[in-house]
Amino acid sequence: MKKIYLILAMFVLMTMALPLSLSAMEYQYKFDVKNMQFSWTIEKDLIHVKLSAKTTGWVAIGFDPENAMQGANIIIGFVKDGKVKVGDHYGNRKRGHKSDEKLGGKNNVINPSGSEENGMTTIIFTLPLDSGDAYDKPINPEGISRVMLAYGAGKDSFRNRHKYRTLYEINYSTGETKKIK
Ligand code: HEM
Repeated sequence: MKKIYLILAMFVLMTMALPLSLSAMEYQYKFDVKNMQFSWTIEKDLIHVKLSAKTTGWVAIGFDPENAMQGANIIIGFVKDGKVKVGDHYGNRKRGHKSDEKLGGKNNVINPSGSEENGMTTIIFTLPLDSGDAYDKPINPEGISRVMLAYGAGKDSFRNRHKYRTLYEINYSTGETKKIK
């Protein structure tokens, strides 16, 4: 009989702990730009990312661009007919990007998922901080890095240009940001 009470007590405790573990899944940092939000958590050698924007087209992030879009590790995604597509791209030109796979690298995105609701598109994924891929770039969790955030409009196509794009300096460990463009 005692055993049953023990099991019941454990069950109640577990149910109580559930909202806690869900809130623990919340991201360490949230950063808002115009109609777009970038949330992230650094965990050991990984970065967990959530990108949301007011668009039914694509949302994207570009790590460490060098000259306009050139040299950036770009992760871009959209949701079409309930299906999410997240691409690992590289800024191979000042004004363009191509998938790592087409350039000879790999798609290093881990666990991509996403949703499109009420005109908002969200993509969620994890990246290794240093994938070793020639078309990615090591993400430095300390110090100052550059990050591009952008979203397209309407069309679910990676070729469709941005409706909005911005460039910031960011410190992934402190959450500090500074607008560059
Ligand atoms: C989908 C294909 C894309 C096309 C055709 C495209 C095209 C362009 C063009 C023509 C410009 C120069 C004009 C301007 O400043 O608006 C530009 C700039 C820029 N793009 Fe894109 N873009 C694309 C995707 C992206 C993505 C995915 C990102 C971010 C992840 C991005 C971020 C930026 C930024 C930050 C600038 C300003 C760069 C600077 O002047 O320093 N673009 N893009």
